[in-house]
Amino acid sequence: MCGIVGYVGKEDATPILLHGLEKLEYRGYDSAGIAVRNHGDDPLIVKAEGKLTNLIEKVSGMTFTGTAGLGHSRWSTHGKSNETNAHPHCSDDHNVIGVHNGIIENYQELKDKLLRKKYTFYSETDTEVIIKLIDYYYKKYKIGPVDAINKALVRARGSYALGLMFKDYPDQVWFAKKGSPLIIAKGKDACYLASDVPAILKQTNKVYYVDDYEIGYIKEDEVRFFDLNGDDITNKKELVTIDWKADATDLGKYQYYMEKEIDEQPEAIKRTIDAYVDEEGFIKFPELGITKEYLNSLEEIYIFACGSAYHAGVVAEYLIEDLANVNVRCELASEFKYRNYKMNPRSLAIVISQSGETKDTYEAMMKAKANGIKTLAICNVKGSTITRDADFNCYTYAGPEIAVATTKAYSCQLAVLYLFTLFLARTKYALERDKYYELVNEVKALPEKVKETIKCKRQVQKLSSRFTEKTNVFFIGRGIDYAICMEGSLKLKEITYINSNAYAAGELKHGTISLIQHGVAIIAIATQPDLIEKTVSNMVEVKSRDGSVVALTTKDTEVEDSSKYQIYVPKVNPLFAASLAIIPIQQLAYYVSLNKGLNPDKPRNLAKSVTVE
Ligand code: AGP
Repeated sequence: MCGIVGYVGKEDATPILLHGLEKLEYRGYDSAGIAVRNHGDDPLIVKAEGKLTNLIEKVSGMTFTGTAGLGHSRWSTHGKSNETNAHPHCSDDHNVIGVHNGIIENYQELKDKLLRKKYTFYSETDTEVIIKLIDYYYKKYKIGPVDAINKALVRARGSYALGLMFKDYPDQVWFAKKGSPLIIAKGKDACYLASDVPAILKQTNKVYYVDDYEIGYIKEDEVRFFDLNGDDITNKKELVTIDWKADATDLGKYQYYMEKEIDEQPEAIKRTIDAYVDEEGFIKFPELGITKEYLNSLEEIYIFACGSAYHAGVVAEYLIEDLANVNVRCELASEFKYRNYKMNPRSLAIVISQSGETKDTYEAMMKAKANGIKTLAICNVKGSTITRDADFNCYTYAGPEIAVATTKAYSCQLAVLYLFTLFLARTKYALERDKYYELVNEVKALPEKVKETIKCKRQVQKLSSRFTEKTNVFFIGRGIDYAICMEGSLKLKEITYINSNAYAAGELKHGTISLIQHGVAIIAIATQPDLIEKTVSNMVEVKSRDGSVVALTTKDTEVEDSSKYQIYVPKVNPLFAASLAIIPIQQLAYYVSLNKGLNPDKPRNLAKSVTVE
C-alpha cells in the first residue's frame, strides 16, 4: 500500500523525508509528495506523478527549508495516479495538511456531508475527504487537534495511518492509526513517524508501535499519545529497540534489492535457525509460550497466508502430515473468510506473513480466534499488527526485505516451519530421537547448501535469455515439488509479467495439457525421489507435444533424456528441497525481468504489503 513519513527536529526536513520515502517506495510508487514548514510559516507542498525520482528532481530545483514535515509515496486506491491525487492533501486554507495510508470506505458519505457544509474538492481521493472532515470539526468545536481528529475518525469506516499538520501547531506533526501500520521513532533532537521501520532506521532504532484508535503528536523532543477519550496514555506506551542494523536497507554493491536479498538468504536462514536451535541441536521456541501438553492435544493444524507465505505453508502441510502425524489444512487467507468450515476446537491456526500487516491474513487469524482457536504467527516484523494480536509468535530473522518479490523472507519462513514441524513431531513422540537429530542437522546444513546453490547464478542467467520472449510458462511438480512450483510461478509472473501457471503434474492430463505446444516452456520440478518416475513421465508427455522442458532437480538425478535443459541443486533431504529448488527460480525471474528492461524491485501494480482486503 502507501508509505508515509513525518519528521520534527533540528535539521532540514526535506532530505530526511525524501530518504524515508526512498526506503518506503516498495510500499507504493505511482506518485509522491512532501509538505514542509518552517515554524510558523505556511507549509510548502510539492507533489509529483510517477516514481519518487520525479519528486526528488522537482524538489532539487527549489530553495526552501523547514524543520517539520510529512511525506507520502502512493499506491492508488481512490483516483488515478496523478499529481492532483498525490498526497499530501489539505484544507483550502492549509489549516490541516495530511498524508494517509489505508482506505476510508464511507468516504462518499462523508464527502456529501462536507459538500453540504460548502466544502469543495480538488481530487478524487478519500484522503482529501478525511483531511477536510478533520478541518471541519477543528473549526466547528475549536478545542484542538485531539478533539477534531477523534470526532472525524469516529465517523470514518475503514483503515488509516494518518500524518497531520495543523496551522496553529507549527512545531508538531500529529498522527492517528487504525488498521494500517504506523510507528513513531525517537532520535537525537528529532522524532519521526513512518509506515515501516526502514524509513527511520538510518536515524534511530527506538520505536513506539501505534495501536488502533490511538492518536498523538511528535515534536523535536517529545512524543504524546492519546486514546479515543482524549486521555494522555503516553506512559503506557513501550519504546522498543529494533534489532536491525542501520545499513540493513542499503543497496551496497547491488543494483537491485532483489538480487541482494537472494544473496542474503544463507545468512538470513542461518540467523533464523540459530534463533531456535541450540548448540546441542535442541529446538526451542522461547517466545512461543505453547506448552507441550497443548501441542500433544492438537488434532488439526490450519495454516492461513497469502502469496508466497501461503506457498511456504503448502510445503509445511506436507511436512507436518509426514513427520508429526497431524492433519493440516493450508488455506488462502483471502478465501478462508468465506468458508463456513467447522474448525476443530483441538487445533492451532498458524498464520504466515513477512510484513505482519497483510489484511487478509490478519482477518483469517481473527476469524480463527473468534472460533476459540489459538493462533501462532510466523512473521518477519516484530510489533507488526498480526504479531500483536496473535496468541503466540515465531519470528523469522530475514532482516528488512525491500524488494516487492519476497525471497529471503520466504526461505526463512520455510526454516521456521521445518523447525516447528520437528519440534511438534518430537513433542508428540511421532519422531524417534535419532531421526529427530538427523533432520535437525539436515536443517542446520541448509545455509551452506543454499550458498552453494546461489553460485549457479551465471548458468541461470544464461538460461534466462530463453524465457525473455516467452508468453506462457508452466511449472509442474508433485507433492512438495508442486508447492515449489507455486512459489516459482509467482516469482516469475510478478516481476516479468509472463503468464505463468503452477500445475500439479498429475493434473496436466485432465485438460491443461491441451495448452502444451511448440514454444510453451515447462519447468519441471523433480526433487522428490519417490515421485521422480511419475514426474519424468509428465516431462516426456509435454516434451512429446513439443513443449520446451527445463528440469530442476538434485545432482545425480537422470533427467537429460526427458528435458531440453537441466538445473541441478545440491543433494538435500527431499523434505527440505524447497529451500534449494526455489533459489534458481528466484534468480531466473530476476534475470528475465532485467532482460525485459523491467525493475525487479518495483513490479507494476504491486506493493510490498497489502493492507487492504
Ligand atoms: C510475494 O513475492 C509477494 N510479494 C506477495 O505474494 C506476498 O508474499 C503476499 O502479499 C503476502 O505478504 P506477507 O508475507 O507480508 O503477508
